[in-house]
Order: sequence, then structure tokens, then C-alpha cells
Amino acid sequence: MFEGKFADRMDFLQPSPIRKITAIVSDVRAEGKKVYALNIGQPDVAAIPAFGEAVARKATEDPQVSYTAFIGEKYLRETYARYLNNYFERKNVSHFHIDTHNVAVTVGASHGLTCVFLALFNPGDEVLVFEPFFSAYRGFVVPSGAKLKAIPTKAEESFALPPEEVIEKYITPKTRGILVNSPCNPCGTFRTAEEMDMLARICVKHNLYFISDEVYREMVMGDEEVTCVFEVDLKNDEDNEALKNLMICVDSASKSFSLCGARIGFIVSKKEITDKVSHVVSNTVTCISDTLQYGVAAAYDEVLRDPSYFKKVRAVYRERRDATMAAIKEYLPNAVAPVPEGAFYVVVKFPEFEDISEYAMYMLTKFNLGGETVAITPAAGFYMTEGAGKNEMRIALVLGPEEMRRSIQIMAEALESYKEYKKSANADPIKKL
Ligand SMILES: Cc1ncc(COP(=O)(O)O)c(C=O)c1O
Repeated sequence: MFEGKFADRMDFLQPSPIRKITAIVSDVRAEGKKVYALNIGQPDVAAIPAFGEAVARKATEDPQVSYTAFIGEKYLRETYARYLNNYFERKNVSHFHIDTHNVAVTVGASHGLTCVFLALFNPGDEVLVFEPFFSAYRGFVVPSGAKLKAIPTKAEESFALPPEEVIEKYITPKTRGILVNSPCNPCGTFRTAEEMDMLARICVKHNLYFISDEVYREMVMGDEEVTCVFEVDLKNDEDNEALKNLMICVDSASKSFSLCGARIGFIVSKKEITDKVSHVVSNTVTCISDTLQYGVAAAYDEVLRDPSYFKKVRAVYRERRDATMAAIKEYLPNAVAPVPEGAFYVVVKFPEFEDISEYAMYMLTKFNLGGETVAITPAAGFYMTEGAGKNEMRIALVLGPEEMRRSIQIMAEALESYKEYKKSANADPIKKL
């Protein structure tokens, strides 16, 4: 029995509900059931080959694995700046030019966001964020002592942002930033160019940092491309100049190249901000992996030469998304499920439910259709408002179109079975998640 005391901040660092489901999935599989695991949060397509080839070359040809520059190695920062400028040219949009000094390398976007919060915010500062949002943000903000303040969006409105005057009502003297994620985990929604302009206007008016998490920028399923924060044009030199001091773009190789385990991310901002982020890097992890930066630079180099990797990945997810949405329409006609435009998730809302986590546990532990069942992520963890999202789930598009379709069919059968189970007076209680 451990009788020591932990720091008070540990109360705010809760274990991820997503990890809890993963542990239950392993147990259920060990019992012999086949589980379609739609709770997974990482792409399942193969990583870009250029990464592995470059890592192997570096590891065999260079006798030293060295400490690297705090801000990240110059060749990687240069390559990333070229990639981002090329992204704008590909889209034929005007944009703020990105130089090498605007880029800092971090241990994935997770560490990048943590560094940004540490560099910019004091304890008690508030950062506005639109819910549902990536649940790990709650942990990333803890070391800085700042607080997230959630602004709700709704499945019925395809998770569109509320109007400017509503957002402004959430601003207090403590508000220091707005955090937006497009395409969004968990709902796959894009922030439109108009929404990005609106957020930039609010940030300039109230002097708030505009933090844009764009880790899914390349994972789009429709014809439209994501609006990067550096594309915003407030049509007025003074406002655009002010905006330059407030914009922070967060990116990562994790999703773009299926390199979640490489742990390489980027902060793109004004030089003064990237310099401060690099101070946080040096004071937290010293520097970023030598060999892996080399591999990630090769990945960006490769897509600059030939963007077919992104095209292939987009086609894979588009096919899965289309099969999933068609199956939801067919098997779950009462569900509200806005069509995701990017990332690789769908939020499905069952208006008649009180608490979807019980259904999720029933499906996983008590139900099977021909020996098969499905794991999903209850969406309440993506909300901060008490009681919000309890009748929503997130499913990840991590299986082929036929398996996605079969999963939705199983979910529909499990739903009917669960309703019957709940009616029976002497049914065993369902384990809590
Ligand atoms: C919206 C969002 N931001 C950031 C991250 C963290 O990404 P990384 O692997 O680069 O730390 C994730 C990971 O799932 C995410 O979904």
C-alpha cells in the first residue's frame, strides 16, 4: 500500500477513458470474441516509406546519435517551412510567408501544445476552446496552470461555430487565447475560411492568441482543403500586423504520415514565440530525437517531390467514410451523424439515450453477433460541460469499408438487444466504464 502524497495537480490529470476501453478490448479478445475496434485514435495505413529508409540510412551511416538544436534541426525546419509555403501555393491562396525561424520542433503536437501553453499563459489565464474537443487538451494545459473554457457546438448544427457575438460573451479579463482544431478530433468538422476569419477578428480585437491545431490538415476526405491559420486575411494592414503576433499553428508528422510513434511535431509562429517555445523544449526534454528528425524531413521532402502519398491516404479514408455514412443511414436511421470532412472520426448521436457508455460496455462485454462485437469511444470525454455528449459516441474509420459496414450493422443489432436487456427486471448490472 502506497501512503505517499501526490501533487494537487494530479487531480486534474485523469487517466484517458480511451485507454480504459483499449484494456477492456484486450480482455474481450482474450475470451475469443472478435472485436471491431473503432475506438482507436491512430491511422492504420502504412507510414510513408521515405521515413524508414532515411532513418535506416542515418542510423547506419552516422556513427553518432547526437543532441540536437533546442529549436529543432535546421534541415527539418527548412523543409517544413518549404512544405507549408508549398501547401499555400498548391491551393493558390495568399498567405503569411513562413521562414525557417518561424518553425520550432517539438515531441509531437502534444508536447508542442504543452510548450505553447507554458510559454504564453500564467496560472488562472483562460483559453477558449470549442467542444467537443480532443480530450488530451485538458492535460496539456495543466502544467501552465491556465484553464480551458468550453464553448458548445452541436451535432444537429454540424458542429458549426456560434456567431461572433456569442463567442465574445465567453471572453473575460482572464481570457488570453482561443484554441481551435480543424479538421476536428472527434467530429471531423472543418473550420471554414469565414470561421477562421471571424476567430482572427476576435483575437485581434481582444488581443488573444489564436492557436490553431492542424494535425489533421492533410487528412481530408472531401474536395476542399483545410484553411490554415496563416491564410487568414483581415483585409487591413494594421490588423494583419497585429494578427502576426498572435497566430500559432500546431502540426505534427503523426497523422500526416502515419508516424504517431515518431513523436515529431511543429510550432509555427512569430520568431519571438518559436524562440520561447524552444526554451521550454530545452527545459523539459532537452532536445528532439536526432535520427527521427532526419526521417521526418525525408517524409516532407518526399511529398514535396511527389504528393501521391497524401492522395492515396485521402482516397482510403474517403472510401471508408462513405461506406460508414451509408451504413449509418441504413442501420441507424435515428442517429444524428454529421458527415466528417477530415480527420478520421465520426461522432454519432443517439437522441434517445441517456448514457451511451452503458451501451458501449453492454456491446463489448455482453453482446455478440456471430461471435463478433464492436468497441466505440463514448464522446462525453470530449466535452467539459457537465452532462454534455453523454448520448454521443466517436467511431474511428480504422477498418476497410466492408468491416466498417459490418461494425455499424453489429452496433444496430446491439442497440436493439440492449434496449431489451434494460427492460428485463433481473438482468445482471452492466459493468461501468
Ligand atoms: C486534435 C489532436 N491534436 C493533437 C494530437 C497529438 O498529436 P501528436 O501525436 O503529434 O502528439 C492529437 C492526437 O491524437 C489530436 O487528435
